Amino acid sequence: MPKFQFARIDRLPPYVFAVVNDLKMKLRRAGEDIVDLGMGNPDLPTPQHIVNKLCEAAQNPKNHRYSQTKGLFKLREALALWYKRKYNVDLDPETEVITTIGSKEGLAHLALTLINPGDVAIVPAPAYPIHPYSIIIAGGDVRSIPLLTDEGFDKEAFFEAILKAYKESWPRPKLLILNFPHNPTTATVDLSFFEKVVDFARENNLIVIQDIAYAEISFDGYVPPSILQVKGAKEVAVEFYSLSKTYSMAGWRVGFAAGNKEIIHALYRMKSYLDYGMFQPIQIAAIIALKGDQSCVEEYRKIYERRRDVLVEGLNRIGWSVEKPKATMFVWAKIPEKFRAMGSLEFSKMLLLDGKVAVSPGIGFGEYGDEYVRFALVENELRIKQAVRGIKRAFEKYGLRNIKV
Ligand SMILES: Cc1ncc(COP(=O)(O)O)c(C=O)c1O
Repeated sequence: MPKFQFARIDRLPPYVFAVVNDLKMKLRRAGEDIVDLGMGNPDLPTPQHIVNKLCEAAQNPKNHRYSQTKGLFKLREALALWYKRKYNVDLDPETEVITTIGSKEGLAHLALTLINPGDVAIVPAPAYPIHPYSIIIAGGDVRSIPLLTDEGFDKEAFFEAILKAYKESWPRPKLLILNFPHNPTTATVDLSFFEKVVDFARENNLIVIQDIAYAEISFDGYVPPSILQVKGAKEVAVEFYSLSKTYSMAGWRVGFAAGNKEIIHALYRMKSYLDYGMFQPIQIAAIIALKGDQSCVEEYRKIYERRRDVLVEGLNRIGWSVEKPKATMFVWAKIPEKFRAMGSLEFSKMLLLDGKVAVSPGIGFGEYGDEYVRFALVENELRIKQAVRGIKRAFEKYGLRNIKV
C-alpha cells in the first residue's frame, strides 16, 4: 500500500509508448541500428535565419527578464498576419490571440480553465493523448467518439457521431475537441465539415477546440482548412497552432490559441497564475519564423511528401497495403491480418526486435487504435528504405510474403 495517494495521477494510465522506447534504447545500447519512426519528433533542423535571430536576441540583457504571459504583441500580431495570409481570417492580436508554451501546454491549461469536475467533453478516439487527458486531468469526463478510417474517413458518419454523443450525454457536453489534419489517423476534412460543426455548436452553446498543428504539412495539393474561416466561428471556437512542425521548432515550445475572445481571456487569466510566457529571445525568433522568408515551409513540406511516398510505396511493395495520407507527418497503417490478433504493442515489439524499426503502437492513442501502428516520417529517405527492408525481413521470418491486409 503506497504511503501517499495522488488521485489525479491515478487517473492517468501508464505511458504505453515508454515500453517501445525502453526496448529501443536497450537494443541501441546493445549496438543495434534502429530506424526510429516512433515519436513525432521532427529531425529537420530549425531554419538558420530563425536560429540566428535567437542567438542575436539572447545577447541583449533586456531579453533576459520575465516576459509576458500573453506573449509579445508583435508575436501575436505575426500570428494574426499568418491567419490573414493563409486563410484570409481577421484576428485582433490584442484580444483574440494568446501565445502558449507549445500547443500541448495551451491545450492542457485550456481544459483546466474550462472544465470543472463532472463536466463532459466529446473527444474523438484514437487521439493525440493530451486531447482526452487534459479533460481527465481537469477532473472532467470524456465522451469518446470513434474516428474510424478502415474504409476511408467518413466525415458524415463522424459528424453524426458528434451529434449522437451530444444528445445522449447528461450533463450536456461543454466542449468538443477536434484535430484536423488528425494525429494519429491522418484523417482530413474540408471547410463544409467545420461549417456544420460551428452551426451545431452555436445552436447548442458548445465550445469547440480545434488543433491545427499540421496546417502546413499537406500533400497532393490539399490545403487543410481552418475552423476560423467559418463565419461565426469566433462565437464558439478556439484554434491551436504550433511552430513545432511547420518550422521544425519542436524543442522551442511555441504555440498559439486564437479565436473566441472570452475563452482566450479565460486562458490568459489561468496562465497569468502559472507562467510568465516564453523566454523572450524565443518569441523574437518566432516572429521571424512567421514573418520572414517562408521558403523553408515549402522545402520541409516536400521532404515529408517524398518520405511519405518512399514509406507507403515500400510497404505496398512488400505486401502491406497502406494508403497515402493527404496530410501530417504520419502514416497510420492497419496491422496485417496475420499479426492483428497479437495487438499493436506486441506487433511493435516484433518490428523492433526482428525488423529493427521503431513505430508507435496504436493502442497508445487510446480506444480503436489497437489494430494499427503509426509511423512518423522523422528519418531520411535512405533510412526509411532501410526500415522497409527490415520490416520485410521480419515478415519473412514468420513465413509471410505478400501478406495483404
Ligand atoms: C495534434 C498535435 N497537437 C499538438 C502537438 C504538440 O505540439 P506542440 O509541440 O506545439 O506542443 C502535437 C505533437 O505531436 C500534435 O500531434
